[in-house]
Amino acid sequence: MKHLIDPMDLTVEEIDHLLVLADDIMLHKEKYQEVCRHKKLATLFFEPSTRTRLSFEAAMMELGGNVLGFSSAGSSSATKGESVSDTVRVVSGYADIIAMRHPKEGAPFVAAQKVDVPIINAGDGGHNHPTQTLTDLMTIHREKGRLSDITIGMCGDLKFGRTVHSLIKAMSRYENVRFVMISPIELRLPEYIIKDVFEKKNIAYKEVRTMEEVMPELDILYMTRVQKERFFNEADYVRLKDSFILDEKKLKTAKKDLCIMHPLPRVNEISTKVDDDPRACYFKQAMYGKYVRMALIMTLLGVSANEN
Ligand code: CP
Repeated sequence: MKHLIDPMDLTVEEIDHLLVLADDIMLHKEKYQEVCRHKKLATLFFEPSTRTRLSFEAAMMELGGNVLGFSSAGSSSATKGESVSDTVRVVSGYADIIAMRHPKEGAPFVAAQKVDVPIINAGDGGHNHPTQTLTDLMTIHREKGRLSDITIGMCGDLKFGRTVHSLIKAMSRYENVRFVMISPIELRLPEYIIKDVFEKKNIAYKEVRTMEEVMPELDILYMTRVQKERFFNEADYVRLKDSFILDEKKLKTAKKDLCIMHPLPRVNEISTKVDDDPRACYFKQAMYGKYVRMALIMTLLGVSANEN
């Protein structure tokens, strides 16, 4: 593994290794606090972010390394017309590893063709978000103790939600995973994912229009925000934005050990009253993201724990 552009760049064995390493980092922070000394991570964020950028930066700092970068296209020379390729070629002379978010699908892939330092896709348009997928897999593994034999409901904006697209691809490789897609018809999962993943691999899935009708069967409920920034038409966004709001009443029929996830940010789709429910895992999920990104940075840089 040299770059991480698509969740399928990782084998199941590589994912296992990253999750084991992330767990060990959580438990034994002292073994890892100097392993990236003198290494630099550049975070090139052409789109807004709180969790992904800051967890990457915290991850590198906790490994003893340094960070540099920008948090918006507007504060970079992209505003002067510089191409992504030129930007990463230049930054590869300043940093040992680059995490990049860009609104255009495929931009991190293009960047990875140009440089020798590892490129990590930190989200490209409505396409993929592989480090969110690692975060999600770590959460499912820690909360449920397994990645197979699971019924996962994905609810909200399944059309534009890159976290959903990436997680479906990754989870499709585990045994006996059933997918329940909960969305308005306008925001249903793209046909190419239904064909290339569910139908090609003969994976059990169904599409429904309400969460109530499937709540009792779910082991995981993965809520998502309606992606305002991907809409062409404000009126459509306003009409669809509150299609699903999870509240205490809707959880009455849910399993006692349901795991409620959300990649965050949340807008209205989970009532804040749900936050105190022991089944709400989304803030833990955001925290796991830092540890799995520490594991990924170490693996891509080829550094290992200090066992002394
Ligand atoms: N989950 C996620 O990608 O959050 P940010 O947009 O805040 O990075």
